[in-house]
Amino acid sequence: MNVGDEQSRSCWMGETVAEAPPLAADAECDVVVIGSGIAGLSTAYELARFDRRVIVIDRGRIGRGMTARTTAHLATELDDYYHELIDLHGEDTARLYHDSQVSAVNRIEAICRDEGIEADFARVDGYLFAAEESHRADLETEYRACRAIGMPVEWASRAPIPDFDTGPALRFADQGRIHPLKYLAGLARAIEARGGRLHAETAYISSREVDGGVEVVTEAGPVIRAAAAVFCTNSPTNDKVAVHSKQVPNRTYVIAGRIPSASVADALLWDSYEAYHYVRIHPLGDGSDLLIVGGEDHRSGEENDMEARFARLEQWARQRYPSLGPLDYRWSGQVLEPVDFMPFSGLNPGNRAVYIHTGDSGQGITNGVAGSLTILPLIIGEDSRYAPILDPDRKAASAVGEFLKGQAAAVRNFAEYLAPGEASSADALAPGEGAVIREGTHKFAVYRSPEGALVRRSAACTHLGCLVHWNPFEKCWDCPCHGSQFAPEGKVLNGPAVKPLAPAEG
Ligand code: FES
Repeated sequence: MNVGDEQSRSCWMGETVAEAPPLAADAECDVVVIGSGIAGLSTAYELARFDRRVIVIDRGRIGRGMTARTTAHLATELDDYYHELIDLHGEDTARLYHDSQVSAVNRIEAICRDEGIEADFARVDGYLFAAEESHRADLETEYRACRAIGMPVEWASRAPIPDFDTGPALRFADQGRIHPLKYLAGLARAIEARGGRLHAETAYISSREVDGGVEVVTEAGPVIRAAAAVFCTNSPTNDKVAVHSKQVPNRTYVIAGRIPSASVADALLWDSYEAYHYVRIHPLGDGSDLLIVGGEDHRSGEENDMEARFARLEQWARQRYPSLGPLDYRWSGQVLEPVDFMPFSGLNPGNRAVYIHTGDSGQGITNGVAGSLTILPLIIGEDSRYAPILDPDRKAASAVGEFLKGQAAAVRNFAEYLAPGEASSADALAPGEGAVIREGTHKFAVYRSPEGALVRRSAACTHLGCLVHWNPFEKCWDCPCHGSQFAPEGKVLNGPAVKPLAPAEG
């Protein structure tokens, strides 16, 4: 199981990425990749091109992790803004980070061409517009920052929403959009054609460095011995603390419905709220396009008003796109926000043969591909252009304020052990509902199945013990501290946890 087993379905999930058997016996390879999303399959593909024997494992179906829940904007503009990145790290780092995003989009385009992958890739413009009049000054600041690092950006009189005046917008040329799972399916075929192996339903449980590399133990028992391991699991499962204290998990929400074909510009749009709205289209080829609108983000596990969030998102979309038909899709995904705006790609702190990619912010596809371009040269012994700025061990000293803010949520979470539960008793739970219930000094994650059976597990996340919260929309347990997610009965859907919620005691 992985997050593909949560309740909602994205507009991409009709596409099967690859059917792959679970790993049934011990195996050896050059590089084992844990996670089969955009970062994992991109890394495996690049390594296979260099004749590395790769094995990719995933705790669920191939390509059904968070990449199946993205909207696949291929934006080279930074969603946290380049002026913020420059303030933290300076212009040289911002310039190199922008270069990594350009390289990622170029790489996707080149792989589609070279491998014959039909994934609806298109180059489109991107527009950033002010959500409120008072945000216009931020756009000015961002314009100057982008120009300072040599980014091609210009002012447009408005973003291309037909009957809605957004006011002046920043226009970024040569962005892109893609069908993420068609692309992953093409990568999977290309990996297997080069001798790489994919194994679904093969959950990672532990690893250790040994002479000559690393041993990865899977939940069912088989062990993979490799010269190197790369963890691309949204939130890394290999490590308890090092990177997890430098990023925070947020849920984001997406709706999609049909509009008449070509009635809206094929472009990426996003506004200036901190939990910003983001818009793209996906051509369906039947006289209509799918309009995809996202936003309403919040810290994972800290809110349960999903219906109100979807209602606001739909209202926002219909005010701007009155031709939007009935909604065909509503889904959510998780975004890991790094404290200093850039992902963590490279050697895991303290290891010599273990690499990670995480911290994608709202740019999972481009950052995932940039991660593969960063890790490939580290493994094959070449200079890695982006490794110095994406190093997972980098000291984001000037981001300490944000870091402390993130940790405050963990402290708040532990204080919750003393607070009342989400429901007073299991009797209050309708079929298909869950809640954290306090019994004496213990808190339990209690779920009533559709058939009426009660499942009681400890509410302590098996990563570091924060209290999980019931997610009534996705029907899963979310951990606010570092992004673990669990199925109603307690199985892991998303790391960093690798063990299910413990049986209830007490
Ligand atoms: Fe770290 Fe839950 S994800 S404590």
